[in-house]
Parts: sequence; C-alpha cells; structure tokens
Amino acid sequence: MAMIADSAILVTGGNRGIGRALVEEALRRGARRVYLGTRTPLTHADPRVVPLALDVTDPAQVQGAVEKVESLDVLVNNAGVALYDDLSDLAAIERSLAVNFYGTHGVIRAFLPLLTRSHGAIVNNLSVNAFAPLPLIPSYSISKAATFSLTQSLRAILARRGIAVHAILTGIVDTDMSRGVDIPKASPDAVARAIYDGVEQGLEEIFPDPMAETMEKSWREGAGKVLERQYAKLYEETTYESAPVGQEASAS
Ligand SMILES: NC(=O)c1ccc[n+]([C@@H]2O[C@H](COP(=O)([O-])OP(=O)(O)OC[C@H]3O[C@@H](n4cnc5c(N)ncnc54)[C@H](OP(=O)(O)O)[C@@H]3O)[C@@H](O)[C@H]2O)c1
Repeated sequence: MAMIADSAILVTGGNRGIGRALVEEALRRGARRVYLGTRTPLTHADPRVVPLALDVTDPAQVQGAVEKVESLDVLVNNAGVALYDDLSDLAAIERSLAVNFYGTHGVIRAFLPLLTRSHGAIVNNLSVNAFAPLPLIPSYSISKAATFSLTQSLRAILARRGIAVHAILTGIVDTDMSRGVDIPKASPDAVARAIYDGVEQGLEEIFPDPMAETMEKSWREGAGKVLERQYAKLYEETTYESAPVGQEASAS
C-alpha cells in the first residue's frame, strides 16, 4: 500500500486545478519529492518540487521526463481535457483520446521500470462519466470509459510486479474544466485529500467527492466489480504459455 509521506510522486497536469491541489496535498503529507508535470514553465517555492516539462501527448517530452526522475513511488495521471462536442467531429474524439487515454497509457508505459523497482502505485484521475456518459461531452466520456477499462486491466496485469493501480471516479469539481456547469461542486483541495486517503487505504476505486460517493456502494457491491475480480483471478491463474501477449485471443 502506497503512503505519501517520504515518497516520490509525479502529478501530470500539476500546474492548476485538481493537479495543483494534488501537488500541495502531497507536500503537506510529507512527500520526499514531488515531480510537477506541466506544459508551461513554472517555479515552486518548496525545494522538494521538481517541475517537469510534460505534455503527455509528446513522446519525446515523456521520455525526457523519465530521464529526470531518479525514483518514483506514485504516478498520478491527472492531465486531461474536456471538449464540448456532439460526436460529429472526429477531431474531438481523437483529441480526447490522445490526451486522456493514449497520454495516460504512454506515461504509464514510460515510467513502468521505475514503478516496478519501487513496487509503486498508479493513480488515474478518471470521472463518473466513465460509468455514465454526459452527452454534452461525449468524446470526453468515451475517453474516460476507455481509461477506466485500461485501469482495470492494468490492475490485474501489474499485480505480478507488485504495482497497485487505482481508479479515481471523480464527480464535479470546482476548476476551469467545470466552469460552464452551474451545480454544486467539490473543492479541489477536498478532492485531493480524499484521493490520497483512498490510495493510502489501498482502495481500488476512489470516489473523492459527494457526487461520486452516491455511486460508491452500488459499484463496490455490483455485478461489474464481481466480474472484474473473477476475470482478474482467471488472469492470475493463466500462464503466459496459454495466453501469449500479442497473439489473437480465441474467445471473448
Ligand atoms: N473538474 C471536474 O469537474 C472533473 C470531474 C471529473 C474528472 N476530472 C478530471 O480531473 C483531471 C484534472 O481536471 P481539472 O478539473 O483540474 O481540469 P483543469 O483545471 O482544466 O486542468 C487540466 C490540467 O490538465 C493539463 N493538460 C491538458 N492537456 C494536457 C496535455 N496534453 N499534457 C499535459 N497536461 C495537460 C492542463 O495543463 P495546461 O494548464 O497546460 O492546459 C491542466 O494542468 C482531468 O483528468 C479531468 O478529466 C475533473
């Protein structure tokens, strides 16, 4: 189980919104080093913070970031974009997937050797829209559902390396991203605290705000979670010989 105190942690999209709150909360909890992924140059008063130029869609920047990180215990994939669309514009779907899905996947792949060494944790900031699409932002919802599925598969696959994989099913939070929506919103600080509380408790899914909490009980006790566990057990019992990675599966 990952503890934030004395750990080295990387937060993508750490310059504003929930990401900034996650950076500050990690510092408050005594993190040894906080790598702050940002697309714009910045400085931070706390000497434990190391800003990293990190556009998650840029493989060269991702590799450059890996080379600047000495060790890593917790990777927080927080960077994300939400576009208003109606699924008529392929570019909106592609952009949402590029940042929210492929960006997350690419960063995880790049930092996997460091996380394997530390038996660390991956924390993916998703959305309740992974469960129920909001038709105002359908491409975003698709990307979050896909990244939730990625998170569930990686949890089973990476268990063999001793890496924990957490899904954050976030509801509405008061940041630039939700500016156009006029309903009660959780504060980024409260959400950051709930995320790290959940990580420190070893929760596979974390519901970090009042809106998300309404889904928690039914998810934990529901058929989807039961099936996820059954599949994970099946995977655990399957040898690489009988299911070689890279070959086509013969059954769904
Ligand atoms: N706010 C909500 O209600 C809500 C609800 C559910 C889930 N979430 C999720 O929480 C996460 C943070 O959202 P937020 O509310 O804090 O949004 P935000 O205030 O709009 O911040 C988004 C962050 O992601 C970064 N980012 C965007 N594209 C990037 C890229 N290609 N590479 C690296 N960083 C990139 C932004 O950097 P720049 O400053 O350079 O643009 C910014 O730091 C997102 O994954 C979002 O989907 C938010």
